[in-house]
Order: sequence, then structure tokens, then C-alpha cells
Amino acid sequence: MKENKINKISIIGAGRLGFSIAKGLIKSKQYQPSDIILNRRNVELLKESNSFGFQIEANQQSAIEKSDLIILSIGPKDLKSFFKDNSIEINSSQVLASTIAGVSIHDIEKEYLIANKSIEFSIFRVMPNIAVELCESMTCLSMKNSSDNNDYQRDLMNRKNVLNIFSKLGMVKVIEEELIGAATALCGSGLAFFLRSIRAAAHGGTEIGFHADEALALAAQTAKGAASLVNDSNDHPELQIDKVTTPKGITISGLNEMDHSGFSSAMIHAIVKSAEKLNKIK
Ligand SMILES: NC(=O)c1ccc[n+]([C@@H]2O[C@H](COP(=O)([O-])OP(=O)(O)OC[C@H]3O[C@@H](n4cnc5c(N)ncnc54)[C@H](OP(=O)(O)O)[C@@H]3O)[C@@H](O)[C@H]2O)c1
Repeated sequence: MKENKINKISIIGAGRLGFSIAKGLIKSKQYQPSDIILNRRNVELLKESNSFGFQIEANQQSAIEKSDLIILSIGPKDLKSFFKDNSIEINSSQVLASTIAGVSIHDIEKEYLIANKSIEFSIFRVMPNIAVELCESMTCLSMKNSSDNNDYQRDLMNRKNVLNIFSKLGMVKVIEEELIGAATALCGSGLAFFLRSIRAAAHGGTEIGFHADEALALAAQTAKGAASLVNDSNDHPELQIDKVTTPKGITISGLNEMDHSGFSSAMIHAIVKSAEKLNKIK
């Protein structure tokens, strides 16, 4: 079996996430802007924001033909018309990675087969978040189960390449496809939840004496430090929290106030609610 090298990448649906991925691919020094082909229906918008020198291609099929990896980053509701209206054909040496929330590999195959006779390319789901542009994404990746996949070995080989690319755009974890929705809520939407908690901390900082911009910078770096403590030590957060609290101390009084006010519960509810909403997309 021949390994498919990924020299050119097209991003179809280069909106907020797609464009962030393109920027991450450059920042991680894996690709030159000329190796990345961007497409969306309104290409004029891409031209306006293309100070990077990405290739812009108005025709979807032409963009796809030029690429080894196709990152499909359109909205869930755009999928049905995408393959049908654009006579999209993808060949066996190419790989498709979909970021589309709530759309399974099976859904993509189904839509492709309405317009084509057979599928001979690998399809993956990648779920990054917009920190991908800083190479700080938490990306989850999945492929078809071995039980219903006649091309499992081919897909495993292609997954290695996709994994390699996304591992340079932050952290990447391979998960079962049934967990991709949960990953979308925890890591995609979750990014917004953590940003909101940084904003809340900054508001608190302003109330106790810092200018808003200072409070935001202090809160953001503190959040980054907290995340690094967990990531680098692999410790449970409570182990690190125990290092900050003292009997009758100031931190424990703040932590208990957070719990009395329902902080943990609000975060859990937010993640569960997002996951529930995602399940209702179709
Ligand atoms: N944003 C996130 O943090 C995030 C995280 C994980 C997953 N996702 C998923 O990733 C996908 C993109 O999200 P987003 O936030 O980047 O949305 P977005 O900003 O709306 O981008 C989607 C893009 O797809 C383009 N598009 C729609 N139909 C198309 C077609 N037929 N051919 C080519 N381009 C088409 C749209 O542009 P035109 O109208 O100009 O074509 C738009 O720029 C969604 O499915 C979302 O659920 C997003």
C-alpha cells in the first residue's frame, strides 16, 4: 500500500475555523502559504484577508484536484448541497478531514454517494478549536471503526499523516467517533467557556483595583499558568489547588464562595448543554 504524502492542503469553507487552521499550518512551519488552497463561496472575502499569500480558488473541484488533503470546514447545513451542486470528485490518493460539527463519517459518505458511484478515499473527523491558529489547539480526531471499514489499513496509514499535521497545531487525541460530539462541546465550545471565565476574573480584578487591560492580562496569564500546571505535571487540579490554600486562608474562602455560587455546576451544565444541542443539529 502506497503512503499518500500530504504536500498540498485545500480548506473548503475557509471561514473562522478554516482560516485559523490555515494560519496554524503556516505558524507551525509545516507548509508555505502557496501550499494551502482556500475556498469559500464568497471568495472576495478571502481575498480581503489574504495578507498571508494563500492560494485562493473559487472553484471547489479545482481546489480539491490540486490537494492531497481536503479539510472540509463548512457548516452542517451546507453539506447536502456541497457534493451535489458542485459535482465534487475525490480520488483514492486523497484524504478528506471534516471539522463539521454533528455530521458523521457515514453522513459524509451518504452525501458523496448521491453524486458519485463509489468512495475510495479516507475520511476523518478532526475537531480542533480556534486556538489552532496559535498551534495551541486541543484537537480530537477519529476514523471509521474497524468493524464497518473495509479499508481500515489504508485509513490507518492516512491517519498517521493527518495526526502528524494536527499534532504540530497543538495537542491531538485519537478518539472513537461516537465521542466526537462530546469533544466538540468540551474543546470547541469549551474554549469559549474558559474565555468567559477569564473575562469574569478580569472583571473581579478591575473591581479590586486594576485597570481593565491590566486585569485582563493578569487573569489570562494566570489561566495559562493553571493550564500548564495541569498539563505539565499530569496532576489532578485539586493537588495544585492544595498548594495554594492554607487553613482559614484567603484562597479557600474564595474557592468556597465559587462553589456556593455554583461555578463548578455552571461549567458542567454548559458542557452538557452544548453537547445536547449538538445532538439535535440534524
Ligand atoms: N468555530 C469553531 O470554533 C469550530 C470548532 C469546531 C468545529 N467547528 C465546525 O467547523 C465548521 C466551520 O465552522 P466556522 O465557525 O468556521 O463557521 P463559519 O465561519 O461560518 O465558516 C464556514 C464557511 O463555510 C463556507 N461555506 C459554506 N458552504 C460552502 C460551500 N458549499 N462551499 C464552500 N464553502 C462553503 C462559508 O462561506 P461562504 O458562505 O462564503 O461559502 C463559511 O465561510 C462548522 O461545521 C462548525 O460546526 C467550528
